[in-house]
Amino acid sequence: MGSTRAYYGIHAENWDVLRRVYYADQVTDAILARAKPGKLLDVGCGPGFLLTKALADARFTKVTGADFSDSMLRLLRARHENGHKLDLRLADAQKLPFREPSFDTVASDMVLHHLAEPWNGLAEMARVTAPGGRVVLSDLRPHTHAFFKEELADAWLGFEEQELRRWFAEAGLSDVRVEDVCTLQATVVNGKVRTVDVRVFVASGEKA
Ligand SMILES: C[S@@+](CC[C@H](N)C(=O)[O-])C[C@H]1O[C@@H](n2cnc3c(N)ncnc32)[C@H](O)[C@@H]1O
Repeated sequence: MGSTRAYYGIHAENWDVLRRVYYADQVTDAILARAKPGKLLDVGCGPGFLLTKALADARFTKVTGADFSDSMLRLLRARHENGHKLDLRLADAQKLPFREPSFDTVASDMVLHHLAEPWNGLAEMARVTAPGGRVVLSDLRPHTHAFFKEELADAWLGFEEQELRRWFAEAGLSDVRVEDVCTLQATVVNGKVRTVDVRVFVASGEKA
């Protein structure tokens, strides 16, 4: 986890560009299309692709961004001021600093594969979701690109759907849906574009 934070400390400025090489807006849009109106928490918000869209969307009354990278949050603060609609927190996804289950949607875009214990991250997301709310996240289907671990600070080479569904159920989330959204076709390592082929899914579950 220390290396993931260091990686994003160094690459915060680049992530804006890298992410556009990785995939276009369809993943963010797929997450927001599945979100419930009201209060939204974006876990591992990075420089704020999802968060910026959510701020501009009248369906969301309050948008909270949480990331454990100071550099990412600094970028975000330069773009958006904390105001009545936005709240930014330096926080670890595996120990979210919210006591109450108060968010109508807990979203997380491409973060789960960075967590040492993704099942705990998911349990934390479910814990802070309000009754009747929804957890919506994107991540990668299983793949064999081992260099993602060394070069991109990934802890997991994607997720098996069966395992993911079990973690959702253990977190108390039901009506779980897992849908493919697009294919990741390129990644950037040491400034060079490398061709890959990894399916990206969006998964959601309801809190009773
Ligand atoms: C692949 S980037 C995705 C950023 C953003 N969600 C997006 O889609 O552009 C992963 C983000 O997760 C954050 N992150 C990784 N592990 C984290 C953790 N344990 N707690 C909080 N944030 C974490 C990183 O700092 C980084 O901003």
